[in-house]
Amino acid sequence: MRTYHIVTFGCQMNKHDSEHIAGLLESELGLEPAEELRSADVIVFNTCAVREGAEERLRGQVATLKPLKVANPDLVIAVGGCVAQHAKERLFELLPHVDVVFGTHNIAELPDLIERAARSRGRVAAVPESCERDLESTPSIRESRWHAWLPIAVGCDNFCSYCIVPYTRGRERSRPIEEVVAEAERLVADGVVEITLLGQNVNSYGRDLYGEPRFAEVLRAVARTGVARLRFVTSHPKDLSDETLAAIAEEPAVCEYLHLPAQSGSTRILKAMNRGYTREQYLAAVERAYAAVPGLALSGDIIVGFPGENDEDFEDTLDLVRRCRYDQLFTFLYSPRPGTRAARMTSDVPREVAQGRFDRLVDLVQQMALEKNRAEVGNVVEVLVEGVSKRDAAMLTGRTRSNKLVHAPLPPGVEPAALEGSLVSVRVTEAHPWHLVGTVAGYQRL
Ligand code: SAH
Ligand code: SF4
Ligand code: F3S
Repeated sequence: MRTYHIVTFGCQMNKHDSEHIAGLLESELGLEPAEELRSADVIVFNTCAVREGAEERLRGQVATLKPLKVANPDLVIAVGGCVAQHAKERLFELLPHVDVVFGTHNIAELPDLIERAARSRGRVAAVPESCERDLESTPSIRESRWHAWLPIAVGCDNFCSYCIVPYTRGRERSRPIEEVVAEAERLVADGVVEITLLGQNVNSYGRDLYGEPRFAEVLRAVARTGVARLRFVTSHPKDLSDETLAAIAEEPAVCEYLHLPAQSGSTRILKAMNRGYTREQYLAAVERAYAAVPGLALSGDIIVGFPGENDEDFEDTLDLVRRCRYDQLFTFLYSPRPGTRAARMTSDVPREVAQGRFDRLVDLVQQMALEKNRAEVGNVVEVLVEGVSKRDAAMLTGRTRSNKLVHAPLPPGVEPAALEGSLVSVRVTEAHPWHLVGTVAGYQRL
């Protein structure tokens, strides 16, 4: 039996796309998952271009495949995702062992491209901006029995000046509400407990289709399909509506969790980033969110070292982060992306200065996360069990509705498989910056 292996980099949209790649390879090429990458007949890289580091890791990994390719001339190496969409055929020069290059719009054509490359033992590329076949109607093999990614919109129209995504994913395209709801219903019937709605900017969902955003509506409609937990990423601060906050607060299935990237705390830098809001507007949106949703957990993204960022700008960022009381913050060093507006800006922040700021921010985040987690000690939280801890098979691991990682000893006499994918109650006994520890207070056998 011929086999495949998929390596996925980048965001949740790529994870979702890889599940469709697996579905297509199995159902249309009759491939089976390989035991390990080295033994696969088809290797697919689903790539990310958002920062330089992700591209370097890809180059490193593909370079190590050269001996495999020499030993097995029938091996097909395919590279898709955002790096492929951006570099197009140039990728063959950058990565000489690659046989197939496919773009983010052409995933549904992958089986055909692989067959053509195998037949001709030549290179095949497909990176146009459109595709005849809709990816969502192709088969998918989910990595998890109980969790599903559900894209409601792909692409982005915001053109933040540092960001490559609008160039790799194209303009924002929403899926009709009925289609999203029908898919959610199928997932629930299939035993899915948690759905994550995906979009680069979910708050503007529907604007292209209906002339006005209808995110709150689609959120409520999916919440009412019977799914136990509903999440969504990513919210853009400039479009966060009161209707959306009300839906989070009122719909029992919607988790009290909001990922609302600020990117910077300085209005001057936000302007240069083309984010479309000021520091004050962002802080006001956060206060609105905390006031509207009891028990809300807030997370965000910050970019450090954007061109022209000075000490004062960075102090503004630290101050904004303190005021926002984040539960979780993802911090990134600015990485110039070819073709973006920011890449042409010349006022670079020296590497050591940016790194120094980054380290200060990370210290603050750790302190803040620990404070927020300490407030959970003594509480009973709902945890969706994902499995047992990698380090200790006697410890269950899972996530709270607020997306916090929790470890708890497996109750005596219970097999981990009996609880995987189920909701248990955990009494929190210990707080750490990046996880909680507790004891299982109640569960139902599946
Ligand atoms: N659509 C989402 C984010 C997509 S990219 C949003 O607007 O929030 C995920 C995160 O990567 C961004 O929020 C940003 O913090 C970071 N990022 C994007 N481009 C970057 C760059 N050129 N350098 C460093 N970080 C970047
Ligand atoms: Fe990139 Fe901005 Fe679009 Fe997010 S909103 S994907 S950061 S351009
Ligand atoms: Fe990366 Fe593309 Fe996602 S650039 S973050 S994989 S949309």
